[in-house]
Parts: sequence; C-alpha cells; structure tokens
Amino acid sequence: MARVFSGIQPTGQPHLGNLLGAIRHWVTDQDEHDCLYCIVDLHSLTVPYEVAELRDATLELATALLASGIDPDRAILFVQSQVREHSELAWILNCVATMGELGRMTQFKSKSSGRDSISVGLFDYPVLQAADVLLYQGERVPVGDDQRQHLELMRDLALRFNTRYGETFAVPEASIPKAGARIMDLQQTDAKMSKTGGTELGTIWLLDPPGRLKKKIMSAVTDSGSDVRAAPDKPGVTALLEIHSIVTATPLPVLEDRYAGAGYGTFKRDVLDALVAYLEPIQARYAELAADPAEVGRALGRGADRARSLAVPTMERVRDVIGLLPAPAA
Ligand code: AMP
Ligand code: TRP
Repeated sequence: MARVFSGIQPTGQPHLGNLLGAIRHWVTDQDEHDCLYCIVDLHSLTVPYEVAELRDATLELATALLASGIDPDRAILFVQSQVREHSELAWILNCVATMGELGRMTQFKSKSSGRDSISVGLFDYPVLQAADVLLYQGERVPVGDDQRQHLELMRDLALRFNTRYGETFAVPEASIPKAGARIMDLQQTDAKMSKTGGTELGTIWLLDPPGRLKKKIMSAVTDSGSDVRAAPDKPGVTALLEIHSIVTATPLPVLEDRYAGAGYGTFKRDVLDALVAYLEPIQARYAELAADPAEVGRALGRGADRARSLAVPTMERVRDVIGLLPAPAA
C-alpha cells in the first residue's frame, strides 16, 4: 500500500476538470492505498480572496468531496490549516528551496502576471505544497497535468533535504492520469477548465442542474466539418469526446465508431445525457450532506486528528536532524 496524498484549494465547488482530472482518482485510490486528502486553505490566502466566503467555501468543498465518494472512514480528509505542522515544515523547507527555482515556476509566472501587488506567499506556494506531502511521507501524488512542475520541485526539495541532513522524507512521485488530466474550457478550447479565469458557459460545475448543463453542452464550441473524431485540428469535439469517454467508461475509438456520420447535434445530446447521469447521484448525495453541515465539520475534525498523529513524528525527526531542540510536549 502506497501512501497517497493530494490537495485541492477551497475555491467553492469543484468543476468538471477537478472531478475528472483528480477527485475521481482519489476515490478509486482509497480501495488500494493509504490516502490523505487535504483542503488547502492556506494556499488560498496567496491571492486576494473574500474573507467572508473562505469558511463556507471550505465546508462546501468538503461536502462536495464526500458527495463524490471520498469515504472519511477510509481516507483521511482534512483541512490544511487545522494541522499546524504544514506551516512549520514550510518554513524549514523555505530554507532549503532557492529563489532561482521558485522563480522558474510557470504557475507563479501566470498567476502573478498583470498584478501590481504579488504576495510572498504566492511565490512560496510550491514550498507549502511540498511541505503538505513530505509531512506525511507521501509517495504518490495524484494531480492534473498542471501540477507536474510543482511535483518536480517537491522531489528536488526532498532529495536535497535528505542529502543535506540524512534520510528523512520519502521522495514522492506524481501520478498524472492519461485521460482527463486536462479538461478544456468548452468555450475556449485552448484553455483548461479552471475555477478562475475560465468562461462562464465553458465551465461545468459539480452542482450544475440539468438545464444549465444542457445550455453549456449544446453551446460548446465545435469545429468546422461534421465528423465526430478526436484530432488536433478538432479541439472542441475532442474535448467533448474525452468527457463522454470518461463519464461512460467507454474507450474513445468506440465512441468515434458509434458517432461516425451522426453529426454534432446527436453527439452533443448524448454527451449531455451521459453527463447528467454521472452528476445526478453526486448532486443528490450533496444535498443530503449539506443538510447537516455540523456532521461535515465533525468528519473534518476527525481527519485533522488522524493527520496530525502522522505529521508529529515527521516533525520530531525533522527538528532533530536539522539541529533544533525538541518541541515541548503539547
Ligand atoms: P485546483 O482547482 O487548481 O485546486 O486543482 C485541484 C486538482 O484538480 C489538481 O489535481 C489539478 O491538477 C486538477 N485540475 C484542475 N483543473 C483541471 C482541468 N481542467 N483538467 C484536469 N484536472 C484539473
Ligand atoms: N497546488 C495544487 C493545485 O492547485 C493543490 C495542492 C496543494 C496540492 N498542496 C498539494 C496537490 C499537495 C497535491 C499535493 O492543484
């Protein structure tokens, strides 16, 4: 059993990219691995945010994760800021990471471009992310394609720390799915679906009711021609085919055969039906869970306790090897 760790920012409900690129794998990993899933609220402080909304967004995301099939009795589901060791280890790793390597992070460059005030936290974001995983001796990190570079940095930091101070951390590996690693915005097919910066019509949310899904799928950008096949010159159709393939667990070539000569209208209606069928049970479960937010809060509390019992021994070891006195007993 490998130790699996992944994280997601509490920016409200997940979109279809989060669901198909990440959360779906988190759910299946629970059967075979020892999993920790973390709602990374400290990462959300790195860019301007609404104070009044963060707490609700955190609970909303926890509810969505539970509704999607994360089982708090098997996986450890918790909120990053409720385990203080994340911040503590991030500081120590700050003294291992270099300005040069952080300055090369493409996510930093894209998130900071055009802003006149950039927080140190945004620059440091990947170091906190490394602390998240290393704290638990994480071995496998399921993420979407956009996190590849952060995972490379995390490995470099683990190796550098181990070389400098002696074996302390497992060196984690990214686990990036082949299908669904990059779900595209349905209106601008050269951009990934995202919580911020995407188009309103091109982004599918976990709680979108069937009517809204219909509007979004039927207006999704398609390409010239009329054949339903995945190809680089057909990014719109390819994006829809990929979604259809994942939510119905049908190989892409099988779908291409099925829709040969069918035209975009028929194809889109089937994508819509498949998506509605996929999301409906998740939405129903969400409604049940949302009726009892205190229970969601309690599940997170138990998750934080379990996470902390794993984090503390790592921090004891870290303090020891880098020459700090032991932390006083709590
Ligand atoms: P974020 O919403 O940026 O916190 O991402 C949470 C998880 O979803 C990460 O593993 C991302 O790599 C993944 N993810 C985000 N957007 C997409 C997308 N458009 N397609 C596939 N995976 C995504
Ligand atoms: N940066 C990740 C994202 O935007 C979220 C994240 C934070 C994460 N800490 C992590 C992912 C640790 C994996 C492991 O998707």
